[in-house]
Amino acid sequence: MDLYLLAICIHVVFALLGAGPVAALAASLGPDGPSPATARALLRLATWSLVIVLVTGLAMVGLTGGAIAKGWWFHLSSTLFLAVGALVGVASAKLRKTGDVGAARTLTRIATALVVVIIVLMQAKPGA
Ligand code: HEM
Repeated sequence: MDLYLLAICIHVVFALLGAGPVAALAASLGPDGPSPATARALLRLATWSLVIVLVTGLAMVGLTGGAIAKGWWFHLSSTLFLAVGALVGVASAKLRKTGDVGAARTLTRIATALVVVIIVLMQAKPGA
C-alpha cells in the first residue's frame, strides 16, 4: 500500500469517527438525551478524530505537491472544516462550563449540516 492510499484510508476512517459522534449528539432528543458526561465523551472522540482528519488531509496535499489543493472544492471544504472545528470547540467548552447539552446539541446540528456539504465536496471535487 503506498503512502497516499494509507493517508486516504486513515482520513476516511477518522472522518467517520469524527462526524459520527457529532451526528449522534445532534440527533439526541430532549430529556432522554445523553448526560453531559456522555456528550463530552462524544465530542472528545470527535475532536481527536478531526485532528487526525486534518493531519491526513494536509499529508495528502503535501504528497501531491499541492496539486490536489488547487480546486475551489478544496478551499470551500477547508473553510467549512474550520467552522466545524469552531462549532465542536464551542460546544465542548459550553458543556464543560455549564453542562448545557441542549446548546451543544444545537451547535452539533449545524456542524453536521456542514459535514454533509464537506463530504459531498470531497467526493465530487467540483472544479478540480
Ligand atoms: C469533516 C471533515 C472532512 C471529511 C468528512 C472529509 C471526508 C473526505 C472523504 C470521504 C474523502 C474521500 C473522497 C474520495 O473518495 O475521493 C476525502 C478526500 C480528501 N480530503 Fe477530506 N474530509 C474532511 C476534511 C479534510 C481536510 C481538513 C482536508 C485538508 C486539510 C482534507 C483533504 C482531503 C483531500 C486532499 C482529499 C482527496 C483525496 C483524493 O481523492 O485523492 N479533508 N475527504
